[in-house]
Amino acid sequence: MAEIAFLLNGTPVHLSEAPPTRTLLDWLREERGLTGTKEGCNEGDCGACTVMVTDAEGPKALNACILFLPQLHGKAVRTVEGLTGPDGTLHPVQQAMVDHHGSQCGFCTPGFVVSMAAAHAEGRTDHDDVLAGNLCRCTGYAPIIRAAEAAASEPVPDWMQADRQALSTFTLAQISRGEPQAGGSAPRAFRPNSSDELADWYAAHPEATLIAGATDVGLWVTKQLRDLAPVAFLNGVTDLQHIEQRGETVGVGACVTIEALRAAMVEMHPSFAELLRRYASLQVRNAATIGGNIANGSPIGDSPPALIALGATLHLRRGDETRAIPLEDFFLDYRKQDRRPGEFVAAVTFPDKAPALRCYKLSKRFDQDISAVCGCFNVMVEAGIVTAARIAFGGMAGIPKRAKVVEAALIGQQWTEATVTAALPAFAEDFAPLTDMRASSAYRMATARNMLVRYFHDLAGTPVQVLEVQP
Ligand SMILES: Cc1cc2nc3c(=O)[nH]c(=O)nc-3n(C[C@H](O)[C@H](O)[C@H](O)COP(=O)(O)OP(=O)(O)OC[C@H]3O[C@@H](n4cnc5c(N)ncnc54)[C@H](O)[C@@H]3O)c2cc1C
Ligand code: FES
Ligand code: FES
Repeated sequence: MAEIAFLLNGTPVHLSEAPPTRTLLDWLREERGLTGTKEGCNEGDCGACTVMVTDAEGPKALNACILFLPQLHGKAVRTVEGLTGPDGTLHPVQQAMVDHHGSQCGFCTPGFVVSMAAAHAEGRTDHDDVLAGNLCRCTGYAPIIRAAEAAASEPVPDWMQADRQALSTFTLAQISRGEPQAGGSAPRAFRPNSSDELADWYAAHPEATLIAGATDVGLWVTKQLRDLAPVAFLNGVTDLQHIEQRGETVGVGACVTIEALRAAMVEMHPSFAELLRRYASLQVRNAATIGGNIANGSPIGDSPPALIALGATLHLRRGDETRAIPLEDFFLDYRKQDRRPGEFVAAVTFPDKAPALRCYKLSKRFDQDISAVCGCFNVMVEAGIVTAARIAFGGMAGIPKRAKVVEAALIGQQWTEATVTAALPAFAEDFAPLTDMRASSAYRMATARNMLVRYFHDLAGTPVQVLEVQP
């Protein structure tokens, strides 16, 4: 692996020998003795390992347990040990946690205060969302939220501005970036800076593992102990990080994070944005990419059903060759996608307007949970008649799948509750869902049908969100 350079609590670090899939958490604790960053689950679920990572876009909370060292190149890392001022003054969120009794056993506390400090630096006050990825077993959340609220009015301390300023002067110029080695054996890790570099390298090394946000791949290492080499890290591929509108189409590069996509969807497709708000936790959304969420082919990934309902097009590239296919055609069978060796997901495009789009996620917990069923609906009605319908589900088949028989039962009919009720049996022709730990087959079928009924009432303006129902 080429040299990795980053700032750790304000001090430059250069690593030349680190294995490419060494996690930041292991390195901090085992090599640097920074044991304030805790290991709870080692799979992105608990937030005990939260660190703050700053780049040109600003500070973000990330889970160190599923973050590989090369992903930090050119960035600034701040652990809980780096939150206090040079003279030992507590960060306002630390002081507020003391004042509001936000800690009992203390195991979760470093993760909480780092999440809170990152949000404080960004001026975020949506504390419930910010802290949904931090689990506390003993204190209870009320004192912690009170602490976050109390700290919100305090200014960001000077020392917390230092990372951004230092990054602009921190010289990375002498750091090589892992050039492809022509003719030699395959390099174990490559860090491309553009999609052209990625395309050339991946075409030459189709057996390699691409690593984008590592929110799936990280677990292959921490839980399955797999050796993934050779690997390519995509987080430096800046030309795949665009969200841009051309005419009535919006294009999203594969390396756009779920959190950046969520923010962009708030005005454009609010129901999609709301679905993404419930996607994992902020730490995971700050790392996970839309390209990874599509490419992994999971039948319970949250973005594919919404994008299929929008009629999205997937853009793939291998070497100099590019192709575009309807997203729904990408998913062939369970974990089998229409992706050739050496081909990668470059972007996804979809219409910028879909006022009838609604996305419903059903999971055992409201926050930070994988969908049992995710239903996305986009039905066009003109003069009371259904003229077109795109309905897609996750969790109902081995792939994210359209409900084509249900759609056919609606199209050409009057948009009434009677039509919706008459279409419900068609679900059995589209789907034969599995029973697994998330839900039984019968529950999935019943809730998918109920989602169509819910959609009808939702479009009619009836409050359908459990959080919207007021006593
Ligand atoms: C705690 C936790 C909670 C989660 N909750 C949710 C959830 O609520 N909803 C949900 O949908 N998912 C969830 N996930 C799963 C995960 O976040 C997503 O699948 C994520 O989008 C993967 O993106 P990534 O960038 O991290 O991909 P990576 O882990 O880097 O890669 C995933 C796969 O895609 C491949 N890949 C990545 N980018 C490309 C590309 N551009 N072209 C081709 N192949 C590529 C990789 O080689 C790998 O096979 C959760 C994960 C964790 C750890
Ligand atoms: S140790 Fe639980 S999220 Fe990292
Ligand atoms: S204080 Fe004990 S787990 Fe949160």
